[in-house]
Amino acid sequence: MEMNIALLPGDGIGPEVIAQAVKVVKAVGEKFGHKISFEEAVVGATAIDKTGDPYPDSTHEVCLRGDAVLFGAIGDPKYDNDPKAKVRPEQGLLRMRQKLGLFANVRPTFTFPSLVHKSPLKLERVDGVDFVFFRELTGGVYFGEPRGRNEQGTKAFDTNVYSKEEITRLARMGFEAAQKRRKLLTCVDKANVMATSRLWRETVQELAGEYPDVKVEYEFVDAVAMRLIQWPKAYDVLITENLFGDILTDEASVISGSMGLMPSASLGTENKLFEPIHGSYPQAAGKDIANPLATVLSAAMMFEYAFDLKEEAQAISDVVNKSLAEGVVTEDIAEGGKAYKTSEVGDWLAANI
Ligand code: IPM
Ligand code: MN
Repeated sequence: MEMNIALLPGDGIGPEVIAQAVKVVKAVGEKFGHKISFEEAVVGATAIDKTGDPYPDSTHEVCLRGDAVLFGAIGDPKYDNDPKAKVRPEQGLLRMRQKLGLFANVRPTFTFPSLVHKSPLKLERVDGVDFVFFRELTGGVYFGEPRGRNEQGTKAFDTNVYSKEEITRLARMGFEAAQKRRKLLTCVDKANVMATSRLWRETVQELAGEYPDVKVEYEFVDAVAMRLIQWPKAYDVLITENLFGDILTDEASVISGSMGLMPSASLGTENKLFEPIHGSYPQAAGKDIANPLATVLSAAMMFEYAFDLKEEAQAISDVVNKSLAEGVVTEDIAEGGKAYKTSEVGDWLAANI
């Protein structure tokens, strides 16, 4: 197969971890006989520095040309403590999601046997956890209008809006994923308080009849925040709106003890983007110490979700597991053993594909 991949390294550790994913993707290409080309573009703070715009049109064109987008991270501390900054790296990310129509953010949580003891939860609660969030990504309070302040600047408001169509397309992805997994779908909302949540619940209830093999549960977001910690194994596929999903997937990303290891996919009808869940980790930027595995696993998701190449995806998961088992890992998980550099882990993975 021929594939053209848009590479958006972004800020902080983004370029370093993306470089390792590229090594692995190239190795997969050689092993399985695919012709893979890459086209790189700037995004985030790096793009602001170069062009004044965190998601310039030239970058958008590269993304549109690509069969898939592989993205590192964005964010720079110089913007974090300046709420008045006119342009922010995050605006680039939001505009990219919107312009590429990436309405479904798929964030799995699974455990690695060799790391599960690092979970903040008791072993028996977390061993074997395997669930996936489908977070709606281009609607809700992130994009709703009106938003802003009153004239005096003393009151601020955001608007949460959802259409039935937006809920339906996300929910269908969740139902279909559940059919291929353990056939349990949890709709996460706040229907006891919010009108948008009541529309979510009503829409999912209507769809449920089309998926009789899937068991559907409805839970309030505050209860899910609690139960994710108490009984994470109770979940299979969870669907939720943008803001709830933002919060819960951060919670979910640490419970397996593999913080910094979870990949994600953002899917639309036309475009697909893959990125690690972790951020730009500016303290580690340029030091060759960041853990590249989340980005490498995002590349595995790319083979599966963008190209329907499951064997290639499996080959990447396998080599990641092998590196963990053999202790070829960066300092964050080395635990007194040898800490490998980011680039060394990447070389090892590519050599062992
Ligand atoms: C994420 C991030 C973004 C979000 C920020 C950086 C805008 O936290 O991808 O979850 O809130 O969606
Ligand atoms: Mn987030």
